[in-house]
Amino acid sequence: MSRIVLGVGGGVAAYKSALLLRALTEAGHDVRVVPTAAALRFVGAATFEALSGNPVSTEVWDDVPEVAHVRIGQTADLVLVSPATADLLARAAVGRADDLLTATLLATHAPVVFVPAMHTEMWLHPATQDNVATLRRRGAVVLPPPWDGSPGPTAAPAGCPNRPTSPRWRPSSSTTVPPHCPRTSPAAAW
Ligand SMILES: Cc1cc2nc3c(=O)[nH]c(=O)nc-3n(C[C@H](O)[C@H](O)[C@H](O)COP(=O)(O)O)c2cc1C
Repeated sequence: MSRIVLGVGGGVAAYKSALLLRALTEAGHDVRVVPTAAALRFVGAATFEALSGNPVSTEVWDDVPEVAHVRIGQTADLVLVSPATADLLARAAVGRADDLLTATLLATHAPVVFVPAMHTEMWLHPATQDNVATLRRRGAVVLPPPWDGSPGPTAAPAGCPNRPTSPRWRPSSSTTVPPHCPRTSPAAAW
């Protein structure tokens, strides 16, 4: 059993974090959910508390005697941030510590994995790409965002091939994939 911190950012994909939490607890892991305030506008704290069996808070001001923002990070085996919004990636890259999740990210020595989810334009913006590069340079794993190849907010970037949804999909050696295109299928990011 691992102690996993599940950070949840304030994107519409936050609903998937409840399913991810369920899968992690069923696999025997002890999961502490640390949502942002924006995340709780999408999924209620009661859902995370019921599924994890652990208390949920967003602020460093909760549970002050325990110094939660330090203890949660220091005792984690893995910090998994899913979904990671553009805003959350930016705050993490800058090193902000203005809520419990970003403070935990600064206090932890555990591996950190970000699972971004956002509109294609937000992902491809140079600001976001710089933030991702910064986080990767510091050792974090930042997965490519999921999208399904269809038109709309989750469309693949212009010039990128549509892909099947198999998690094991990879471009064939004969496929020319521009450098800005993801190398994995959307399902692989979840
Ligand atoms: C309905 C709705 C859906 C949103 N979905 C996303 C999203 O998928 N990705 C994203 O980066 N921001 C999304 N946003 C914007 C974020 O909620 C906003 O940037 C927020 O400040 C992120 O806060 P965080 O740093 O706590 O994640 C969405 C906003 C709304 C109102």
